[in-house]
Amino acid sequence: MEKRTDWYEHPEYYEAIFGTDTVREVDFLQTLSERHGTGGKRWLEPACGAGRLVAEAASRGLQVVGYDISEAMLAHARKRLTPAQRRRAKLFQSRMEAFAEPSLEGRVDLAHNLVSTFRYLDSEAAALAHLEGTRRLLKPQGIYVLGFHLTDYAREKPEHERWVGRVGRDHVVCNTHEGLPERRQRRSPMRNRLRVTGPGKDWLIETTWYFRTYSEPQARKLFRAAGLRIAAAYDFDYDVESPVRRGSLRLDRVFVLQPDAG
Ligand SMILES: C[S@@+](CC[C@H](N)C(=O)[O-])C[C@H]1O[C@@H](n2cnc3c(N)ncnc32)[C@H](O)[C@@H]1O
Repeated sequence: MEKRTDWYEHPEYYEAIFGTDTVREVDFLQTLSERHGTGGKRWLEPACGAGRLVAEAASRGLQVVGYDISEAMLAHARKRLTPAQRRRAKLFQSRMEAFAEPSLEGRVDLAHNLVSTFRYLDSEAAALAHLEGTRRLLKPQGIYVLGFHLTDYAREKPEHERWVGRVGRDHVVCNTHEGLPERRQRRSPMRNRLRVTGPGKDWLIETTWYFRTYSEPQARKLFRAAGLRIAAAYDFDYDVESPVRRGSLRLDRVFVLQPDAG
């Protein structure tokens, strides 16, 4: 077995697992935009990765800007876009805590960041800089759709999820562990293992990192500090007819954030 690190150096395998909901996600985002935002065509995807959502949105006639820290992910994104999609998509290498594009100030209809990626921002200052920076790019009625798991600090067991997928003749098994939250440091240890087996291939791609943790009050306080109000909240079922009620025990949350007019 050959050992490798960093799943983002291998976007094809990452997407075999996490890229299977793309059409449903973009359907959901378009409905949220009509319902809570402007319904307009200019979208922004912070940490766009290998560009699956950029490509899908561009193919629906939207103008999309995406950026990511990883050149390997961006290279994959550039390669996958068709000439027609490329005319509607712009990609940049940038960090969530630093992205600034003067030509976009106050012009974005919808920004989105769905799969807990926000939790990579490892301090309150970094998270605040990201949210404030994104707010500045939104139109007054624009929305930032931010999906991530809230943390139950009383949890006593690690969490484990397992998925399987295929890339051509390769079989991919993905195991993700989230360790116990470290309340004082506001973080959870994460480990992902992708086992890829196929003709002439037996790889173990292991990635470890920390995710920042948020209780619901911690998330609400941060959004307020960034000048964003919660226009609505959903869960990872992506069902616009079932908003999350205040006090819900579910931790998977999609916040629809809007610049605070006050
Ligand atoms: C879970 S993937 C999501 C990719 C894409 N949004 C999607 O849904 O397919 C997380 C992405 O975040 C990027 N990333 C992690 N930390 C980042 C940061 N501080 N700034 C920008 N991108 C970052 C990684 O390179 C990776 O492409």
